[in-house]
Amino acid sequence: MRVFSGIQPTGTLHLGNYFGMLRNAVKLQNEGNECFYSIVNLHAITLPQDPEALKKHTIEVAATMLAVGIDPEKSILFVQSDVPEHIQLAWVLSCIAPFGQMGRMIQFKEKTEKEAAALNLGLFSYPVLQAADILLYKADLVPVGKDQAQHLELCRELATKFNTRYGDFFPVPETLHPKITKVVGLDGSAKMSKSANNYIGITEDRESIWKKLKPAATDPARVTRSDPGNPFICNIYKLHELFSPKNDIEIVIDGCQTAKIGCIDCKQILFEHMDSHLKPIRDRYNEWMSDTKKVEAVLADGAEKARGIARETLAEVYDLVGFSYASK
Ligand code: TRP
Repeated sequence: MRVFSGIQPTGTLHLGNYFGMLRNAVKLQNEGNECFYSIVNLHAITLPQDPEALKKHTIEVAATMLAVGIDPEKSILFVQSDVPEHIQLAWVLSCIAPFGQMGRMIQFKEKTEKEAAALNLGLFSYPVLQAADILLYKADLVPVGKDQAQHLELCRELATKFNTRYGDFFPVPETLHPKITKVVGLDGSAKMSKSANNYIGITEDRESIWKKLKPAATDPARVTRSDPGNPFICNIYKLHELFSPKNDIEIVIDGCQTAKIGCIDCKQILFEHMDSHLKPIRDRYNEWMSDTKKVEAVLADGAEKARGIARETLAEVYDLVGFSYASK
């Protein structure tokens, strides 16, 4: 099966990204699928980015993906702007994308409200570019977070519409959502995100993880050490479910409900499991980051491979639409 997914290089990847798209991406790769993973910098500039920071984040995101297990021998890892065919296909799809429906995209509407001053045409057509990313590789399956469901629905519709108009050509891709709907942030209220600054980075060092875990929100019923709590509404408990072995989870449930352990004890148990899970990833990340030329080489190689396939699809699309593809 062909798999495609994209991730924006807009900052540190956190546990939400890890348990969201990244783990599925690695799993699909290891199950022997033909995977394309793109660092989508064209999407990133729909909001203002500092150019130096964008360059830096592109390498960091690539190194993080390599560190969590994306293997360049098995998957094609590349930067979106290195394959100009994404933009070329996006234009063709723009010309069949219904205007009204584009305006009803939830993420666009949210940004219309929150960042009215920064609104631009790219933000409006963002989902069309995303559809082009996927269809350019004729992907069958797209691992993404639940928040991307509407964009994927649009992608399916554009594929279908193209096929109806020009002949059966694109596979209509399926979406693979993570099992976990969301990773709750350290504030205990919102989902973990960069913007809410309630996250733990995948490659964050040990000291800094503890510095964030220590003051993190827990069940508000546990005002003092002797108050019993309800682990099932506590965000620290939810992290235990992701990192801790069964017997420690049982200890934590009982300890919290009976106030045998305090929140700090509970966090310490979580911290050790979290740290031992993340340490090998962090070590691999630091190794890649100690020689970023190697990361660049992986991306250059990925772009070349991706481009080979992208050009084939675009040539076929151009032919169907009635263009010739001079650079074929
Ligand atoms: N919009 C996606 C996000 O913000 C990123 C993305 C761009 C993407 N192109 C894609 C995801 C294609 C899946 C497939 O997470």
